[in-house]
Amino acid sequence: MLTRIKQKPPFRIAVVGGGQLGKMMTSAAKQFGFHVTVLDPTPGSPAGQVADRQIVAAFTDGEAIRRLALEADVVTYEFEHIDSVALIALEEGGQPVHPAPQILRVIQNKRKQKEALLKENIPVAPFLAVQDQTAARSAGQLFGYPFFLKASTGGYDGKGNVLIAHENDLPGALVELGSADLLAEQFVPFACEISMMVARSIDGVVRSYQLSENEHQDSILRRSMVPARVSPAVAARAQTVAEKVMTLFGGVGVFCVEMFVTLDGTVLVNEVAPRPHNSGHYTIEACMTSQFEQQVRAISGLPLGDVSLLSPAVMVNLLGEEGQQGCAVLEGCLEALALPGVHLHFYGKIKTAPKRKMGHFTVTAATLDEAIQLAEEAAAHLRVVADKEEG
Ligand SMILES: Nc1ncnc2c1ncn2[C@@H]1O[C@H](COP(=O)(O)OP(=O)(O)O)[C@@H](O)[C@H]1O
Ligand SMILES: [Mg+2]
Repeated sequence: MLTRIKQKPPFRIAVVGGGQLGKMMTSAAKQFGFHVTVLDPTPGSPAGQVADRQIVAAFTDGEAIRRLALEADVVTYEFEHIDSVALIALEEGGQPVHPAPQILRVIQNKRKQKEALLKENIPVAPFLAVQDQTAARSAGQLFGYPFFLKASTGGYDGKGNVLIAHENDLPGALVELGSADLLAEQFVPFACEISMMVARSIDGVVRSYQLSENEHQDSILRRSMVPARVSPAVAARAQTVAEKVMTLFGGVGVFCVEMFVTLDGTVLVNEVAPRPHNSGHYTIEACMTSQFEQQVRAISGLPLGDVSLLSPAVMVNLLGEEGQQGCAVLEGCLEALALPGVHLHFYGKIKTAPKRKMGHFTVTAATLDEAIQLAEEAAAHLRVVADKEEG
C-alpha cells in the first residue's frame, strides 16, 4: 500500500506481457514516476520501448518470471495466457501479484470461468463441457445448429473458436481445436455486444466505467462506441451483472466484462478479462481516469480515480491489411489527424500481418453521432500496410 511516492528508490512494477496493453499500462506507471520492468519474448516489444527494462523470455519461463519479480514491488500482467503456476508460487513467497493468480487460473480457462459464473447465477449462454466427438454431438442436439465450439484455453481474437454449422463440421473442428478441454456454447443471436470496465481497489472499492457498445468482424473487435446505445434498463442490468462478476472474482485491478444483449433485452456474460481491455481504450481520452492509470492505482494500493465519461467516444482498431506482410507503415495520418478530436495510437510493432492489431484511434466529440461520423472519415484514410521498400 502506497502512502507516499518516493523517487529514490522508486516504486517498482513488473508487467508480464509487452504488447500494447502493457505499453499503455507502462506509460501510466511512468506518469507516477514508477520503475517498470516488462517480460516478453520479443525484444523491443511495444511495452519494452517505454519501460525501464525488458526481460526477454517466454511467458512459460518460470525462472524468468521469478527474476522479474525480484525487481518489483508488485507484479501484474497484461494478458491471460501465462503460467499461473509460476505466479501462484511468487504470491506464496510473499510477492504481491494483482489480480491474484488464483483468479487468473479460473478465468484463463473459459470452461472454468463459465462454471464459476453459473454457480453464482450470473447469466451466461447455455454451455456444455466437451471432451470428444460424442459429447460435441450431444451439444448439437441440445443447442441446435449453429453452435460455438471453443477451446477452453489459449483463445483470443476468435482464435480457438469454431462456429459449427452442421454435424459434419465436427470432426474437422475437433482436429483444429486439438484439445480435450472444450466448451460447446449455444449461439446467441444478440442485438448487440457490450462491455464494461470495472475497477476494484485493494480495500474492495468498486467503480464501473460507462458501458461500451462493441462491433466485431471475424471475431476481432473493430469499433467501440461509448456510451452504448442501449435502454437505461439494459444499461442498469449490465452494470449490476458486471459488478456481480467483479465481486465474485474479487480481484484487484481493472477487469473487462464482455456481454451480449439479446433481442428481448436480456444481458448474458460472454467472457471476463482480468485486465484492461481493447474495448476500454476510449477511457484514455474520454474519461477522467484511463483504464491504465486505474490499473496502476489499484495494484499499487492508491485510491481509485474518477471514472466519469468526459465526452462521447468512438474507438476504431487499426488492423494489418489483408495481403500485407512486412515492416509496418501507417498511411493516411495527415488526413486523419487533420480531423477534430482524433487521437491516434500506433503501438510500435515493427511487422504488420493481416488482422494484427497494430494501433487504434479514438474520436471524442460533443455527440456520439458526431464521433461516429468523424471516426468513419478517419478510418477511410488510415491503412496499415507493409513498406514496399523494406519488405
Ligand atoms: N455464443 C456465442 N453466440 C454468438 N456469438 C458469439 C458467441 N461466442 C462468441 N461469439 C462471437 O465471437 C466473438 C469472440 O468470442 P469470444 O468467446 O469472446 O472469444 P475471444 O477470446 O476470441 O474474444 C464474440 O465477441 C462474439 O462476437
Ligand atoms: Mg472476447
